Amino acid sequence: MNWINGLGRGWKALVAVACVLCLLVTPAVTVKHENFKTCDQSGFCRRNRAYADTALSNSKWQSPYTLDSSTVKFDKGILTGVVDKKITNTDQTVRLPLKVTFHESGTARVTIDEEKRQKGEIELRHDSKARKERYNEAEKWAIVGGTVVSTGAALNKDAEKGSTRVMYGPGSKFEAIIQHAPFGVQFKRDGETQIKLNDRGLMNMEHWRPKVDKPETEQKEGEEAVVAESDNIAEDESTWWDESFGGNTDSKPRGPEAVAMDIEFPAYQYVYGAASHAGPLALKETRGGDGKYSDPYRLYNSDVFEYEMDSPMTLYGAIPFMQAQKKDSAVGVFWLNAAETWIDITKSTSSANPLSLGIGGTTSTDTHWISESGLLDLFIFLGPTPQDVIGAYGELTGYTQLPQQFSIAHHQCRWNYVTDEDVKDVDRKFDKSKIPYDVIWLDIEYTDGKKYFTWDPMTFPDPINMQKQLDEHQRKLVAIIDPHIKNEGGYSVVDELKSKDLAIKNKDGNIYEGWCWPGSSHWIDCFNPKAREWWKTLFRYDKFKGTAKNMFIWNDMNEPSVFNGPETTAPKDLLHHGNWEHRDLHNINGMTFVNATYDAILSRDKDEDKHPIRPFVLTRSFYAGSQRLGAMWTGDNQAAWPHLEASIPMVLSMGISGFPFAGADVGGFFGNPSKELLARWYQAGAFYPFFRAHAHIDTRRREPYLAGEPYTQIISQALRLRYSLLPAWYTAFHEASTTGAPIVRPNYYVHPSDEKGFAIDDQLYLGSTGLLAKPVTKEGQESQDIYLADKEKYFDYFDFWQYEGPGTVSVAAPLDTIPLLMQGGNIIPRRERPRRSSGLMKYDPITLVVVLGNSGDAEGTLYLDDGESYEYQSGAYIHRRFKYSTSTSSLTSEDVSSPGKKTKEYLKLMEKVRVERIVVVNAPEGWSGKKEVEVAEEGGAKSGKSGKAELEWHGKVEGKAAWAVVRDPGVRVGEGWKIQF
Ligand code: GLC
Repeated sequence: MNWINGLGRGWKALVAVACVLCLLVTPAVTVKHENFKTCDQSGFCRRNRAYADTALSNSKWQSPYTLDSSTVKFDKGILTGVVDKKITNTDQTVRLPLKVTFHESGTARVTIDEEKRQKGEIELRHDSKARKERYNEAEKWAIVGGTVVSTGAALNKDAEKGSTRVMYGPGSKFEAIIQHAPFGVQFKRDGETQIKLNDRGLMNMEHWRPKVDKPETEQKEGEEAVVAESDNIAEDESTWWDESFGGNTDSKPRGPEAVAMDIEFPAYQYVYGAASHAGPLALKETRGGDGKYSDPYRLYNSDVFEYEMDSPMTLYGAIPFMQAQKKDSAVGVFWLNAAETWIDITKSTSSANPLSLGIGGTTSTDTHWISESGLLDLFIFLGPTPQDVIGAYGELTGYTQLPQQFSIAHHQCRWNYVTDEDVKDVDRKFDKSKIPYDVIWLDIEYTDGKKYFTWDPMTFPDPINMQKQLDEHQRKLVAIIDPHIKNEGGYSVVDELKSKDLAIKNKDGNIYEGWCWPGSSHWIDCFNPKAREWWKTLFRYDKFKGTAKNMFIWNDMNEPSVFNGPETTAPKDLLHHGNWEHRDLHNINGMTFVNATYDAILSRDKDEDKHPIRPFVLTRSFYAGSQRLGAMWTGDNQAAWPHLEASIPMVLSMGISGFPFAGADVGGFFGNPSKELLARWYQAGAFYPFFRAHAHIDTRRREPYLAGEPYTQIISQALRLRYSLLPAWYTAFHEASTTGAPIVRPNYYVHPSDEKGFAIDDQLYLGSTGLLAKPVTKEGQESQDIYLADKEKYFDYFDFWQYEGPGTVSVAAPLDTIPLLMQGGNIIPRRERPRRSSGLMKYDPITLVVVLGNSGDAEGTLYLDDGESYEYQSGAYIHRRFKYSTSTSSLTSEDVSSPGKKTKEYLKLMEKVRVERIVVVNAPEGWSGKKEVEVAEEGGAKSGKSGKAELEWHGKVEGKAAWAVVRDPGVRVGEGWKIQF
């Protein structure tokens, strides 16, 4: 029965393929709630919430965890000891080894494991081969740096008895106070407590225990649980040894083994992160009440198609990294656990004066983290700026890959372009309509019967020729490859998967079989290094015939999606390489697959020639660290206004979660958007770091040239805007790839002193450019209120209308306009020649827009390289800082690169790339009579243009700022120069 239910997603697709007549109908769709667990339906979540309720309702509650003082040692930046958990009504104690590591970066890590007990003391259930150890390999996948242990961390001898204090971090301004009984840790910065662990006593490590066979009490789903007094509080044992949901039973060979901890952020009212969810950027409270959620935020990577808005339900990816923000202070935690995780959030407001009724009090945020298995392992970041926190997290998990330039341009996808001729036709139509795009995508129908690494011979007889046509305009192809491998005899990929023993297994050790797009399938186990090596061979040009160097990969369904699996994913008792249970590593699974594909593309091109290009892989499922491997998108949204609106906080949330290369399906995946919605979606998409239009197979065609006027024109303008700002986008990506900074940034990140802006999540800043966009996301809306946090001048991007912060300003936003402002004090690089694709813009000249604000000074940067290879690592790039100084009335270009052995060669190649125009917005009145400026390039006349350039002055008109333009100063973009106004 339930097997059939689970197939819901698959049937839908089959019906969709057959149902040509459906094209005109857009059914209203919503997520199937009954397919996904609530906390109450997830045994360990329910148990831990009950634990919290007991603890918090009992004023005498004391956490049963004690750090044994005699075991505490501190040596070279690492504190070790043993935390004892006393089991009441027995003389037993469970020993939990503790390690607190202080890193040079200022990040601290708290790890608690469970000591292995005597062999035979705790037996596994006889029918499982699962490994009896708490999963300790999450760090192997997530952590790539930042773990140098601090030499400066030192014990503070003033510690009171029963506690240990360690001073650490920059200037020893951080302090960890480890309290022994009950066990708890407080983290301070400059003497002020920022984060507290186990302060409310909710820490809980469900220790391993033997299964005591009790007479079976029949308990059906939904019935009241059997409650027994076992540990310190009444515990619900009903799901300790197996658990059923939706007709699937999870055998639990190790019994209960959840880990939980309360993490408090005192005086922090706002928390962000824990991506990904479809809700506001500032996370909401989760324990019921007006406007609050009643379920915790859930992190359990799942194929939640048709997902709902404003919900803590899990989605496709999990980043258990949370930041807290108060005025001028940011801190964060990273919960390194790959099992199913739930996070409860509550807030409390305290007031110094009991008569003030909470008015003017300080609000604190309490969080309660609960994971099904694994270690209790968390990292603490003490800021103080949002960038300090995000940067430190990025140092650990890696920065976003510096992508190929094409991948940050415009992508055209649909399920499906049906033949190679269809692809070529769409390509020609874009050109005919003069609409730029860089990439066209192939969904699952290109394959021969959903067998990846094959082409349907009837519909794609000549893929090479198709890729050649795309390459004529430097365009690319991206094709989908999913992790399920069709179970069909004679298909070489599945034959090899089986014969080499590289697939995920059942709990009994036999190959696992389930259903996905191809029907019966097996799943590659990318935790196995041999599987990853084998995966590489499949992408070689001689193996995946019909592929060329301009073809890249889309990895979908990698949660993994299993149509007949529990909650549309893999059963938790499956086994991976090393006999780890799927339960332990579920949230990392998707990342291992992308990792294998990334390495495969890299080695495909490395083997071919000595000039490897950067891989591009799009993923749906992700974990902390996936940012190193490519882009993500927010999955199967809908062609509906609320989904457009939700996409902005979702993309912002990815940015502050260290995975900024993010976007949503432009136009909406399910259903047919109205033309107005489509146009507005392109305008918003122009501000997603990953900008791809996509549509479900049963939707009408909606390539921009089909929209008709004025819509096609409006969409083209949005696309042209994206293309002209590519130098700014690429510079922002470069910054993200070296510092972890978000590419699109929320208000709180840019203005951490402005509490009023902490909850704002519908407007965004692009990199460090000072560009502030607030795309329209509501039907019929013709003006937009934009919040300006600072006392600064802002100018409309298109007509230089002047606004003044702080406060909210109203900007006209008829359908053909994107509300976009430039903050005074910035210099923005652009490329303005309209081209078919970004590759054709490589040697185009640059325009600099100098935006003068209150101080009269302005600054901006530009990063350029070949946009595809790794030569930038040998110095083949240009990185300049432009500065306008009001005191000297001059604009200069200064080198901020670190030259390498390929620098000269690259500068030679870029010699002809010049600054062709300088626009100065809010130009000083004193320039009104000016006709020319002095230009001096470093190296003088021999190398560049020295002399004069023409200046054109435009005075103030109504509310618009005065502006000036310098035409053709002729200076090279890769050289130093000075323009004297
Ligand atoms: C999943 C993806 C969607 C894709 C479809 C077919 O639903 O999320 O983007 O088009 O599968 O491959």
